[in-house]
Formats: sequence, structure tokens, C-alpha cells
Amino acid sequence: MIEQETDHKEPRTKNQPLGTILVTGGAGFIGTNFIRCYLAKHSDCSIVNLDKLTYAGNLENLRDVEADSRYRFVKGDVADRELVSQLFEKEDFDGVVNFAAESHVDRSILDATPFIVTNIGGTQTLLDIACRHWKGASQPRRFVQVSTDEVYGELGETGRFTEESPLAPNSPYSASKASADLLCRAYFKTHGCPVVITRSSNNYGPYQFPEKLIPLMIVKASRNEKLPVYGDGTNVRDWIHVIDHCRAIDHVLQKGIPGEVYNIGGGYEKRNIDIVRLILDRLGKPETLIEYVKDRPGHDYRYALDASKINREMGWSAEYSFKSGIEETVQWYQRNERWVARCLTGEYRSYYAANYHWREAERE
Ligand code: NAD
Ligand code: DAU
Repeated sequence: MIEQETDHKEPRTKNQPLGTILVTGGAGFIGTNFIRCYLAKHSDCSIVNLDKLTYAGNLENLRDVEADSRYRFVKGDVADRELVSQLFEKEDFDGVVNFAAESHVDRSILDATPFIVTNIGGTQTLLDIACRHWKGASQPRRFVQVSTDEVYGELGETGRFTEESPLAPNSPYSASKASADLLCRAYFKTHGCPVVITRSSNNYGPYQFPEKLIPLMIVKASRNEKLPVYGDGTNVRDWIHVIDHCRAIDHVLQKGIPGEVYNIGGGYEKRNIDIVRLILDRLGKPETLIEYVKDRPGHDYRYALDASKINREMGWSAEYSFKSGIEETVQWYQRNERWVARCLTGEYRSYYAANYHWREAERE
């Protein structure tokens, strides 16, 4: 039975951030950066980080905020209904930022199941409980669903995705994210749940797990290992520094209009091969390390986002230049070799074998 909640919270002043927020997946790449930025920016805030600590979650990323009285970590699954209900009862969250997900396209090709369970089932659990708990609340609450430009599918040589572009996902990962977006829309339309969706382009920066293009290539090149480039390397991604993405999410959390979607793009379109060459050049390594391998099945050719809506409505724009952002990122991975080494566990090695060995074997 859904019970009507009464809201006992003090009204917020205009510039006060949402009081207590639930951040899911906060031990992953973007979540880690978000928690650090949020605590640094808002003195008057409180964060509960709910993370299952899959291979991609790493509490080491948040060591220096562990002792902060405004921060609390809870190990658990977003699809665990009882746990999420208990957390809402205890903390009476003002907002949710849902980062928790299986996030790697190549892993979704090897096995889609965890993507369906977490990205769709987990989002549905969070929506159900937030919706029930917030019913009748007088204070504005917000549920930010952190989504991706991949839900729009792929582009040819020209054009950019707007928030009105149709959803046309091509990988099991992007299909699971698109499904979660549709659930968010439905919970807003049907139950009035205050959901706001953000769709970002490719992030790079510190703490990214070294399975994704940029950290993988930095780590491989630093170790003089072969750099596996899928297909002919001409696929294009629109890159955004993770800190710019986190700033945008904060804007949306504080000011986003329920039911709306906001694209968050960095505006730096690059071909994969150009990024790989840039990293090699920066590290003083030869291009002979590049190895063209069999392409990703269903590989989207190009992504590019039109982020004019969030710029117009919230005054957000990306501040990092790709040149300085990538320079800083290369340095971060060079300084944090032990962090990288700890990521490269047995699980990573079996994933690496499953994702790359057939590519090399089948290369023409
Ligand atoms: P990530 O893989 O680095 O981190 C995911 C985090 O979620 C990890 O800490 C993991 O332990 C946690 N997690 C996974 N399953 C969970 C579960 N069932 N319950 C609780 N926690 C769970 O991912 P990321 O790159 O930081 O991406 C975060 C979000 O942003 C994802 O939703 C992703 O789809 C989206 N996104 C990522 C990018 C990008 O370029 N990385 C771009 C756009 C959108
Ligand atoms: O666009 C946003 C998305 O960006 C996020 O939603 C995803 O969570 C995130 O993983 C990322 O997806 P991509 O598939 O674009 O990122 P990835 O780093 O896996 O690959 C970037 C490009 O580099 C892509 O065209 C495939 C290519 N690539 C990737 C790897 C891992 C290679 O050529 N070789 C590789 O070994």
C-alpha cells in the first residue's frame, strides 16, 4: 500500500543545495569524481554512497573523504529492494543521483545479463522506492538518472544528437540504458516522480577503469605493450572531461525540471586513432605499438551531442580544453601506477582474454 508522506523539512533557501542525497555507484569513475566535487562545493550537504563494489568500484578512490562527517558509504546492490527502502526510511533523501551501472559496451557483448539486472532492474527498484517515499513531499526532490548519448544510436559524418533525437540503441549496454530512460519517463508521466535524465558523451579523466579507450591506451603504451585499435580507428567520439560532466549533473540536481532530458557534451570530437597517436606522442612511444584488431560488433560510427539546452537553461558549458585535460589525465595515470596495478586483477585478466584474444586470432 502506498502511504501518504508528510514533509517535516525546513524550506530550502535559493542557493542551498539539496540536503541529503543518495549517490549510487559512487565508487566508480564518474561517481568518485562527483562525490569529491560535490563535497568540495557544498559545505552544507550530506551524501550516502550506495555501491555494490563490482570490479569497477574501488573504495580506494574515496580514501581521503572517508573521514568526512558529511559522507557515508553503504555496500549494497541498487536492486536490493529491502536495503534501498531502509535507506530511504532512515535518511529521507532529498535527491538521488543514479550512476550505478554496468558501463562497458564490450562486456555487454560478452554477457548482457548483469546489464539488464542492474541497469534496468536496479533503476526500477530505485524509482519505485523514491516515488513511494516522496509522495506528498512539499519540498522539491529530484532523481537524476545518469544516462548516455549511446541511447541515440550512431551518427554519420554530420549532425549532432539533440534531446529530441529518437532512441535507437545498438549494443546491449545502450539498450539497457535506453530502457532505464524509458522507465524514468514512465514513472514521471504515471506517478509524477521528479525524474530528470542526463545524457553525456564519452568521459575521460582520473579514476577511469583501464578497460576504456583512453586509460587502456595510456597503460598499454606506458608498458610498451600493443595498443588494440578496433577496425580502422576512424570511429568518432565526443569527449568531455569528467569534472565538466560532474558540474553539469550538479546543476541538473539542483535546478533540473522533472520530466526533462539534458544532453551534456564536451564538444571535442576525435577519431580513436588520433587519440591513440596523441597518447603515444605524449609518452614518447613509437606508432609501431599500434595494432589494428577485429572490430567491435555493432560498433557505432560516430557520436556528437548538441548541449545547447543545458547551456541556455542553466548556464553550463564545458570548461576543460581537450589538450590540457588529456595532458593532466596522462600525468594522473603516470603518477598512479599502483592504483592501475591494483585494477589489473585476475578478473581483469580473464575479461581481457575474452574480449581481445579472439580479435587477434581472427585479425586479417
Ligand atoms: P563505472 O563502471 O566506472 O562505475 C560503475 C559503478 O557502479 C561501480 O562503482 C560499480 O561498483 C557500481 N555498481 C555496478 N552495479 C551496481 C549495483 N547493482 N548496485 C550498486 N552499485 C553498482 O561507470 P562510470 O563510467 O563511472 O559510469 C557511471 C554512469 O554514467 C553509468 O550509469 C554510465 O552508464 C553513465 N555514463 C558513463 C559515461 C562514460 O563515458 N564513462 C558516459 C555517459 C554516461
Ligand atoms: O558515449 C558514452 C559512453 O562512452 C558511455 O555510455 C559508456 O559507459 C562508456 O564506456 C563509453 O562507451 P564507448 O564504447 O564509446 O567507450 P570505449 O572507451 O569502450 O571505446 C571508445 C572507442 O574506442 C570506441 O569507438 C571503441 C574504441 N576502442 C575501445 C577499446 C576499449 C578501441 O578501438 N580499442 C579498445 O581496446
